[in-house]
Amino acid sequence: MDPLVRPIGGREELEQCFDLWGSVFGEGRRFFQSRLDLDRTYSPATTWVAVADGEIVSAAQLFPFEAQWGGVALRVAGIGSVATRPTHRGRGLALAILNAQRRWMEEAGSARKGFALALLFAAPRAEPLYARAGFHRLPFGTAVAWEPVGWGHPPYRVRPVAEGDWPALRAIYASQLSHLPMGHIRPPAFWADAIRWTDAGEPGGVRLVAESGGEVAGYLFYRWGEDGRARVLEVVAHPGHPRAAEALAQEVYRRAGAGRALPLTLPVGHGLARGRPAEPGPDRAMWSVVNPAALVRAIHPVLQRRWVEERGPLEVAAVPGGMHLRWPSGERTLAGQNLLAAMMTGLEGDPLLQGLFPFAPPYLWSLDHF
Ligand SMILES: CC(C)(COP(=O)(O)OP(=O)(O)OC[C@H]1O[C@@H](n2cnc3c(N)ncnc32)[C@H](O)[C@@H]1OP(=O)(O)O)[C@@H](O)C(=O)NCCC(=O)NCCS
Repeated sequence: MDPLVRPIGGREELEQCFDLWGSVFGEGRRFFQSRLDLDRTYSPATTWVAVADGEIVSAAQLFPFEAQWGGVALRVAGIGSVATRPTHRGRGLALAILNAQRRWMEEAGSARKGFALALLFAAPRAEPLYARAGFHRLPFGTAVAWEPVGWGHPPYRVRPVAEGDWPALRAIYASQLSHLPMGHIRPPAFWADAIRWTDAGEPGGVRLVAESGGEVAGYLFYRWGEDGRARVLEVVAHPGHPRAAEALAQEVYRRAGAGRALPLTLPVGHGLARGRPAEPGPDRAMWSVVNPAALVRAIHPVLQRRWVEERGPLEVAAVPGGMHLRWPSGERTLAGQNLLAAMMTGLEGDPLLQGLFPFAPPYLWSLDHF
């Protein structure tokens, strides 16, 4: 019998998904349950399953979020928790779910479904599967074994996050976001909920702030990995205090036991990577254009603003997988990987279109979990 692919029908099916994820992934059932139970925006329509012989045998979760690109908001579907029972692997079930989610996202109409892009983080073995589902890998990320350089001690006091710090942390994140060509827009509910689900699902996490003159200048979250090394989850400094990130990293380095370099994967050009040997990072982000009409709708004002008027009017139309640009003396189609690369890393060296898609090194905070 052909498997049935659909969103879950209710709590009982969600419990079966928790069982499945708990048995397939090392994080354990509680990690997955806390995330969905504590996210007040969670809707059952975002948990997809394949059902065979009345049993849930494969599941994938869709985490909706917004990213900013050139100052406008794009609706993005974060795809995660993709799992098939070992007994049912290799039969196309995970692919069938990804394809069904894509069709659902392509539906025009309600704003809730108007997803422009999808993003996932692929385990190496699953990359071919995601490529078949229309996802592309883009060059990104810098791996650094971080150790303090020299003996300079940045003038910050590092201490644990206190209850009253959260508005300052949100403000620091927002001020960095406005400097990034692309980044995750976090609504207030995200902060409140994410703090609860990371506490519940990833116990043992540590949150630090760096302060200067009584003001919070940066923050860093980490937890201890099973290998005894500190795993930095997120580090953000106020744009006016770039050295705050260094002070925070120094503190984690000290706590880890000096001599034990911190493994960090950072966006290209990140201040903490400067002056240190870096390798291409193990970043596993893969992106896909899921709804060209929604994408064109969102970024059209940015393209119009960036267009050089002397070239005459620019027309932008959605086409399968991307967009078609047309102006009096030329035209160009950008789709799939080409379009994603243009948006995320820019079209430097392309005299006509580099103004529309400027060079853009860090596209989405690597240490920023959706
Ligand atoms: C990855 C996974 C969800 C694939 O599910 P599936 O229903 O077997 O997927 P499909 O039948 O649609 O596609 C099979 C493809 O999955 C990929 N794959 C990844 N890990 C695999 C595994 N352990 N066994 C079989 N296929 C795997 C392969 O690319 C395979 O393609 P191939 O058959 O050409 O080699 C499943 O193997 C699984 O649950 N793995 C453990 C959890 C995991 O790694 N999830 C992905 C996190 S990013």
